[in-house]
Amino acid sequence: DQDARVRALLAQMTLDEKIGQTHQPAGGRQKALNSKIDATALDLVRKGGVGSYLHVAGAAFLRELQRTAVEESRLKIPLLFAIDVVHGFRTLYPVPLAMAATFDPEIVRATARMAAVETAVSGLHWTFAPMVDIARDPRWGRIVEGAGEDPYLGGVMAAAQVRGFQGEGPSSKGLAAKDSILACAKHFGAYGAAAGGRDYDSAELSDRTLNEVYLPPFHAAAKAGAGTMMTAFNDLNGAPTTANTALVRGVLKTQWTWPGLVVSDWNAILELINHGIAENPVQAAALALKAGIDMDMASGVYAAHLKTAISQDPSLSPLLDQAVTRILTAKMRLGLFDDPYRFGDVEREKTVFVGPEHRAIAREAARKAVVLLKNDGGLLPIAPSARKIAVIGALATDNLSQLGSWKARGQVADVAPLLPALKAIAPTGTEIVHVAGAGPRSDDETGIPAAVEAAKVADLVLLMVGEDFDHSGESRSRSDLSLPGAQSALARAVLAVGKPVVVLLPSGRPLVAPEVLERAPAVLATWFLGVEAGPALADILFGKAAPGGRLPVGFPRATGQSPTYYAHVPTGRPADPDLAKDTVRYHDVDIGPLFPFGHGLSYASFAYSDLALDRDNVAPSGAVKVSLTIANTGSVAADEVVQLYVRDPVASVARPVKELRGFVRVTLKPGERRRVTFTLAAAQLAIWSPEGWRVEAGKVEVMVGSSSADIRLRGAFTIAAPGKAREPAT
Ligand code: IFM
Repeated sequence: DQDARVRALLAQMTLDEKIGQTHQPAGGRQKALNSKIDATALDLVRKGGVGSYLHVAGAAFLRELQRTAVEESRLKIPLLFAIDVVHGFRTLYPVPLAMAATFDPEIVRATARMAAVETAVSGLHWTFAPMVDIARDPRWGRIVEGAGEDPYLGGVMAAAQVRGFQGEGPSSKGLAAKDSILACAKHFGAYGAAAGGRDYDSAELSDRTLNEVYLPPFHAAAKAGAGTMMTAFNDLNGAPTTANTALVRGVLKTQWTWPGLVVSDWNAILELINHGIAENPVQAAALALKAGIDMDMASGVYAAHLKTAISQDPSLSPLLDQAVTRILTAKMRLGLFDDPYRFGDVEREKTVFVGPEHRAIAREAARKAVVLLKNDGGLLPIAPSARKIAVIGALATDNLSQLGSWKARGQVADVAPLLPALKAIAPTGTEIVHVAGAGPRSDDETGIPAAVEAAKVADLVLLMVGEDFDHSGESRSRSDLSLPGAQSALARAVLAVGKPVVVLLPSGRPLVAPEVLERAPAVLATWFLGVEAGPALADILFGKAAPGGRLPVGFPRATGQSPTYYAHVPTGRPADPDLAKDTVRYHDVDIGPLFPFGHGLSYASFAYSDLALDRDNVAPSGAVKVSLTIANTGSVAADEVVQLYVRDPVASVARPVKELRGFVRVTLKPGERRRVTFTLAAAQLAIWSPEGWRVEAGKVEVMVGSSSADIRLRGAFTIAAPGKAREPAT
């Protein structure tokens, strides 16, 4: 069996060979993959000095590199090849925040599956995704890479991606299938809580918030079988996660008994010196190994200093064996010892990349990700009477931006652009013109008058303003969430013309743009949608598809309102609009976000009715079935995301005013009704305590609605007695 094979191999390894397995050098830079694999690098591979490479790709290239390892090194141990496949390898689909907005785990799984196939065909075995960090502060640039503010949604999306990448499923062979790749849940455990939304900055969290909000998506990924996890760059309450023994060895490996491989983030082991907890690289190596970091990404500290660290402290030796065991086990699970080349194939690369099936999945994902924030007067879908349409904004032709951050092998030439897609779908005779006006990278307003002129003679304006791909992502924190460049001036000038304006708002985060969000009649949050961006947007605009995406994170009214999230605990002085009263709110901004978590409109309308709970009293280990009827009362087929929230109104500690515990996206024809049933376990109400998860007795409120602020049905049940739960409450 695999364990015995790993043990036998370990027994043959020298100390140098063991350390070699923990070494993951960069094979190149992100924009120049493979560029660092030279004669010296190959020599190190022959000596058994490398366990894995990141930033490499290409079936032909990787076959030769793997051949060097399995034919020319003493123990013939195959290499693991890794890359960041964050929202697609060659066929890029919407960025992860947009994928979360689909509220559809099946399309999320399908996109990750397609990404895995393309990655595996290129000779790779491992993606550094999904990023499952909870992000409640939109100033943090990496919010674009995750599923937003909510731990339940985050957990569902994490598990869906793990299943997609690793091919887990009833009819699949999982990781052993040659077109599966290892997933990596990152960045364990509270990277998204960086102070002030500043990437890499410290996180200060209570144990309760850590366990109830930030760790659940990691737990969900672990439960879904994620083969690997990555620690974060930052410190949590003063302990850098890369040296955080309590968190990595304690919670992840011991408490959760998760058997996978832990890799550090880029150079993070060496950065323990900058954090001020290691004096030199030898000490940094020892701290990271003790904490449970199995593989060192890019710093080279393990390769250069672990031997010295072990000679100074022999108790590190069994820890190294444990790390190597986890690395070899990952390679075994992938079947690399039996077929080190797996799916990598030059000929197959040509047929698989951006094939019609993959484009179809990317288009469905993009359509599902768009969120209709406003639609005053039913301006959308575009009426056939709109004969002259002015498309305004530099972003409307910025195809590169549709690829978002982390492009892997994505090519701008693969992006199907907006203007031709609009022309292809618009009724015959519709005139469509584009005027850039202004863009997000410049304060130049000289193009605005031409945009105004175009608006004046148009029946309808499509105004595309927002961020470009490089405003969000790693190290792209912003202190001001307003429209960048001269776009505010453009929006104001175009809206002042008085023509009907539909705003398309691309971004990798919530934006604060009252000039469009409050003044334009119709707004679509369009994120960065990938290679099928143009056709997907055209489908939505002209009503070939109805928007059904929902916000995975609320849009604040002002940057200074951040972080604002729906699942806050009640205070002694709940917010009151009356400013004469001293309550928890700002004096200069209304209470709550402009658009809350879960918000999204449709071209149809939906009626919720007949809430029924199958019992009103449940044991702490039991579950309640919550059912309701949802009906499409509109005139077009459309999707609705039915959301189940709970509240524990009286508990030993203050509980959030609302917490998502279930959702389902349903498609209904006009007039169609469907009964929807959620199974809500009492354990989903569990409260974290240092002694473990406990279920408290008492009343539970149940709320079902169309967003966190649009509750349509309410019910309640009682948990009969206190009890214990084994896992995070999601
Ligand atoms: O996977 C990434 C991580 O999210 C940020 N630092 C670099 C890694 C590898 O590219």
